[in-house]
Amino acid sequence: MNRTALLTLSLATLGAALALAAPVTIRPGESWPDDRGRHVQAHGGGIIKLGDTYYWFGEDRSQDNDPGKRYVACYSSMDLAHWTFRNQVIKLADPDNFGPEWVLERPKVFFNAQTKQFVMYMHIDGRLPGHKSRYSLARVGVAVCDTVDGDYRFVKSFRPLGKESRDIGQFIDDDGSAYLIFESRPTKGFFIAKLSGDYLDVEKEVCLIDAPLEGGAIVHYQGLYYAIGSALTGWAPNPNKYATATALAGPWSEFKDIAPPETNTYGSQSTMMLKVTGPKATTVIFMADIWKPETQWESRYLWMPLEIGDGKLWLPAPAEWSLDITTGEAAIK
Ligand code: GAL
Repeated sequence: MNRTALLTLSLATLGAALALAAPVTIRPGESWPDDRGRHVQAHGGGIIKLGDTYYWFGEDRSQDNDPGKRYVACYSSMDLAHWTFRNQVIKLADPDNFGPEWVLERPKVFFNAQTKQFVMYMHIDGRLPGHKSRYSLARVGVAVCDTVDGDYRFVKSFRPLGKESRDIGQFIDDDGSAYLIFESRPTKGFFIAKLSGDYLDVEKEVCLIDAPLEGGAIVHYQGLYYAIGSALTGWAPNPNKYATATALAGPWSEFKDIAPPETNTYGSQSTMMLKVTGPKATTVIFMADIWKPETQWESRYLWMPLEIGDGKLWLPAPAEWSLDITTGEAAIK
């Protein structure tokens, strides 16, 4: 390499390092442009981290999508603020006679270290013959891919543990074990279930949290598990709640409000809690959707650092905040 090339490379590396070191700003509720300048389409989403990179998957509700298909988009980021569009990893026509109104929601991706496969779970729904609701099928779907942002192949749909399943959430414990969270209406509860070795199946019930909640999410923080969820009010926001337990299997505490109930979680609904651990601090980010049911492509995201610890969890009022991915520190501006 000649000197100029070396200098250019060093400057580029320095630039990248400086860009990474600078705290970034997150603006809850605002339009969130990706690297193409388009609002991120990752509704009801989930995030996994591979190396230093975060991947955000969610429902892609772009206005120009083919209305007969269902889409999941994948974005990547190293700082959780600047997102690069990677691919519409699912562009799926009805794979299994679910019917014209079929639904694909809340996709969540797990990486299976044994099979080296990426396994996506999603809420699959549709209208069963003779049923009033478009959400009577109540199944999960599974799709797989060899790369994180490739084209996922739909494998199957089923009712986990034989139960009706609607909103799903994902939880990966600190030891790497992977769990599916799913809401089951007839049982009026929120299941935490362990995935099979290859993640292609839901193997074992760990707990049925006895509370009618959806949008379920769990985080493990300072020795306690915190579970959050929303009430069953469809697209309309409601006061989301949390409970704690020392083990996933419970017993779980009673559920309490995460924010002043009259704000209806500031107009949002939970989808995930993301733990960012750095050398200086651990920040737990509440990730939620501000749904716009009539113009879904405009649905916004409410991400805020939670006040969490000693069995308490509180969502501060939405405001601009900064995150330093290199230290783990967050500060509300
Ligand atoms: C919500 C659910 C969303 C979507 C919506 C449809 O309760 O969390 O993911 O299914 O209902 O009304």
